[in-house]
Amino acid sequence: MTLLLPILVGFLAAVIGGLYLLGVFRRQRPGEPPLDKGLIPWMGHVLEFRKDTIKFLDRMKQKHGDVFTVQLGGFYLTFILDPLSLGTFVKESPEKLDFNTFARNLVERLFGYRSLGNEKQLLMKTSHKHLRGPGLEVLTHAMMCNLQNVMLHNTDSSTDQKTWLEDRLFKYSYKAVFRAGYLSLFGNASQNCEGSVEKAKEKDQAESETLFHEFRKYDQLVPNLAYGVLPPREKMEAERIKAFFWKALSMQKMKIKDNISRWVWDMQQGRQELGIKESMIDRYMLVLLWVSQGNTGPSAFWLLFFLMKHPEAMAAVREEVNRVLKESGQEVRRDGPLINLTCDMLMKTPILDSAVEETLRLTAAPLLVRSVLQDMTLKMANGCEYRIRKGDRMAVLPYSAVHLNPEIHPDPHSFKYDRFLNPDGSKKTDFYKGGKKVKYYSMPWGAGVSMCPGRFFANNELKQFVFLMLVYFDLELKNPDEKTPEYDVSRLGFGALHPVKDIQFRYSLRF
Ligand code: HEM
Repeated sequence: MTLLLPILVGFLAAVIGGLYLLGVFRRQRPGEPPLDKGLIPWMGHVLEFRKDTIKFLDRMKQKHGDVFTVQLGGFYLTFILDPLSLGTFVKESPEKLDFNTFARNLVERLFGYRSLGNEKQLLMKTSHKHLRGPGLEVLTHAMMCNLQNVMLHNTDSSTDQKTWLEDRLFKYSYKAVFRAGYLSLFGNASQNCEGSVEKAKEKDQAESETLFHEFRKYDQLVPNLAYGVLPPREKMEAERIKAFFWKALSMQKMKIKDNISRWVWDMQQGRQELGIKESMIDRYMLVLLWVSQGNTGPSAFWLLFFLMKHPEAMAAVREEVNRVLKESGQEVRRDGPLINLTCDMLMKTPILDSAVEETLRLTAAPLLVRSVLQDMTLKMANGCEYRIRKGDRMAVLPYSAVHLNPEIHPDPHSFKYDRFLNPDGSKKTDFYKGGKKVKYYSMPWGAGVSMCPGRFFANNELKQFVFLMLVYFDLELKNPDEKTPEYDVSRLGFGALHPVKDIQFRYSLRF
């Protein structure tokens, strides 16, 4: 009996502990948001959430309103869907709502990089220095040169006959922007090492092509990898690709490159100064490649696709681009010099700016997540207050709360290139819901502590891509009645959406 009792108590404690972890005892306390644990213990709603996040959130909104807590794979997430109350989430102090804990775990799972936890300052400082102001101009210039090299490679302007090339638009756009973006940030092959400018360019073409193919393979594994549900064979493939990138982007390789960007360079040096091992810094380079390339290429595709699909938008942007080019005193000529598309020129394109913003509204769907570090009170715009528990997480999906909200953006599923323009042609920033001004009317870059530090560069990249495509090429969809492809809903929450199928298009040099 004396032996049996502790065993029994231990067994009971284990059962109760297990049930606790499964969420069996969790109840909504007074003042807390409605709690929906779902039917499957511990897993909660994760399957429905993953299958179609928007549909799931819509269903929860119908059931519970604008704020609710759901169980997802062992975590309790409180979602805020009220666009007027997002400021509370965005501006809450990091002592209460913390981005870094969640981000660190995700980065380790996806890229094998173990953060020391003290690198945020370095990221902010380096990005502020090299992704804005004069640093941004240097990077934008590099992007312009690399983009033209990539785009005009394999196009022949020597004959008088117009030759059309055919390709898949998603692959074409993603590849062009990835390759040029990669070369601009991680540097070009060294002319000294390769022996000549031509040979260095060839090496850049070949290497960036290989990297793009591996990147795309990884890209497709990321959603399941992030949720930890990758089958063993794909897990092995993910390990192989990660190792490939750690080597391809290693500090040793970078040392013999020309034109490595100051952003990447300072990130490496800064980490060395923090005492981080070189092998770990190599892994961080994959994080930088991912954040800088994973969203820009797909967004470039959507932008060009929407313009090709909407002739009135294409005509307005084309006219603006031609005017800016003419005002700069340049023209595109056969055998003429490459055009010098400056930051200054990119600042004179309000119509293109609006088209970019509209594209991102329709196709950028990041899930913003914070860990709750202290018990806290969530104050809603309508005066309601909710108690939020320490240890839970809070989340906002702007795509569902804001971007597709018909009260803020009428006819929200349609592409309207001038949605972000005032009648006088200036940038429109006044959007309303129920007569109240909405501060966060579009959030493709996230917000608050985790807001994308590369947004100015990314914006320039998208504009450069379209600008150059329009001045160098005539473009058309192979099928003029092509429908806008559906979005791959499995990527909701992971940033730029992908189309479920690619689109055939044709392009031909204009000169
Ligand atoms: C269309 C292109 C892009 C989109 C839509 C985009 C969007 C975002 C979003 C939503 C986040 C925040 C994620 C979160 O809160 O969890 C983020 C983070 C980040 N982005 Fe971008 N991004 C783009 C391009 C770029 C580029 C070109 C760079 C760099 C050159 C960049 C660098 C970063 C970095 C370093 C972070 C991490 C910030 C942190 O940890 O605090 N992004 N991006």
